[in-house]
Amino acid sequence: MTDLFKEKAKNWDANERRKQLSQGIGGAILKNVALHDQMHVMDFGAGTGLITAQVAPLVKKVTAVDVSESMLAKLMSKEELKGKVDILCQDITTEPMGVEHDLIMSAMAMHHVEDTHRMVQSFAQHLKPGGQLALADLDAEDGGFHNPPSEGVFHPGFERAAFAEILQQHGFKDIHFVTAYTAVRENGDYPIFLAMATKN
Ligand SMILES: C[S@@+](CC[C@H](N)C(=O)[O-])C[C@H]1O[C@@H](n2cnc3c(N)ncnc32)[C@H](O)[C@@H]1O
Repeated sequence: MTDLFKEKAKNWDANERRKQLSQGIGGAILKNVALHDQMHVMDFGAGTGLITAQVAPLVKKVTAVDVSESMLAKLMSKEELKGKVDILCQDITTEPMGVEHDLIMSAMAMHHVEDTHRMVQSFAQHLKPGGQLALADLDAEDGGFHNPPSEGVFHPGFERAAFAEILQQHGFKDIHFVTAYTAVRENGDYPIFLAMATKN
């Protein structure tokens, strides 16, 4: 698989807008999800670990899953994550890892996965009964967030009601949304939702 984030990985953490966005999403997860020190968490599309780093101190373990070796290499170079974070460079939507987690979180990765149904099915497969989801991504937008268009972006955000329907179809309950952050760009404002749900 081509590493579409090879170039971006080099300066990912240096981008001020990205840092603010990650702080906003991480803050919303910390505020809305009851984290505890026995939890095994998956960060789906963890990238360089900007969200992982905010959650790892509060839980037992985070497994950072991503398909980009370059992004995960940056994550692994962070001293503060050593011992608390495992990495897995694998597309778990097509190749499951066979481990169930207490929580799957994700930030800005789902719009990179073409088949949303298969992805959500995979989330269900990788959660214990009663396990939780905390998924952040763009609300449906006009395509202007990725301007110029980037390879590997399959969805211009998600309609909350349609996304909730998919979660329900794959056995999730207690589905609710908050607005985690609004990215303010030159060409408009882009709200980002945090979808939370529980596996039946
Ligand atoms: C926009 S970045 C977000 C990274 C990180 N979550 C953050 O907030 O900084 C999207 C990430 O999703 C990853 N990704 C794309 N498709 C994926 C898949 N099928 N499974 C896991 N990760 C994927 C990309 O490699 C990239 O690291």
